[in-house]
Amino acid sequence: MNKIVDKRQLSAEVYEMVVEAPHIAWSGKAGQFIIVQTDTEWGERIPLTIADADTEAGTLTIVFQTVGASTHKLALKNKGEFIDNILGPLGNPTHIEQFGRVVCVGGGIGAAPLFPIVKAMKTAGNHVSVIIGARTKDLVIFEDRMRKAADELIIVTDDGSWGKKALVTEPLKEYCAASHKPDMTVAIGPPIMMKFCEKTAAEFDVPIMVSLNTIMIDGTGMCGGCRVTVGGETKFVCVDGPEFDGHKVDFDNMMLRMKAFKAREDKDHHRCHLKMGLEPPGGTGQGV
Ligand code: FES
Repeated sequence: MNKIVDKRQLSAEVYEMVVEAPHIAWSGKAGQFIIVQTDTEWGERIPLTIADADTEAGTLTIVFQTVGASTHKLALKNKGEFIDNILGPLGNPTHIEQFGRVVCVGGGIGAAPLFPIVKAMKTAGNHVSVIIGARTKDLVIFEDRMRKAADELIIVTDDGSWGKKALVTEPLKEYCAASHKPDMTVAIGPPIMMKFCEKTAAEFDVPIMVSLNTIMIDGTGMCGGCRVTVGGETKFVCVDGPEFDGHKVDFDNMMLRMKAFKAREDKDHHRCHLKMGLEPPGGTGQGV
């Protein structure tokens, strides 16, 4: 059981929670994710990237959007209540090194998982520019935190209600076209945004890392739900990722697979048959 020590609503559909999870807070690294289950018995497993960690307090910050029945249930929980299970840290940490100039792009809720990467890139000695994009002003999150963590911050909105009226690819293109182009770019956000960030970076022969947010079920490489094609090979986002060389990702195939699960995601009838932290009588813990 993990206690919720703080909860804030960041926008109409986006919530931030600080939860007690000392072992994950101590061992988690930028880019890794957790799986949250609000109800051990039947709750769906929700993969969430770690937005921040406080090693002294032993807490994690998670940010999620209410996109389906399970995230709506999670949003109903309040400070002082408990989340049944948190599993992690999962996946591989972001590859951090002193690249030189790094441009990080966060679309919508993608700004939250981008935040620890921005901090880690900065700590490694990089000059870090951040682009945050959202549909409208109310959906811009992590602006103040990014302003403190990065060397530069550009905000763009689709409707021009905050920052510049543009898509994230516009300032990204300006960075890539500059005489001192980025040595590395990172993009986290909707798949379509990452696809066009990749195309922009490719135009200028700039490397790009993307963090993929596919459907996940077990999070341990067994169910195949998070399968993607990278460089012509099948990869599993949960164990091989979540970050990949953006130039090798087949985004069209990934988006097609994600659409196939959309109708089920919106309904409340999904019941998870994988138990976290519970050993069924005589079972293996891998499903009952
Ligand atoms: S979530 Fe099942 S294989 Fe990745």
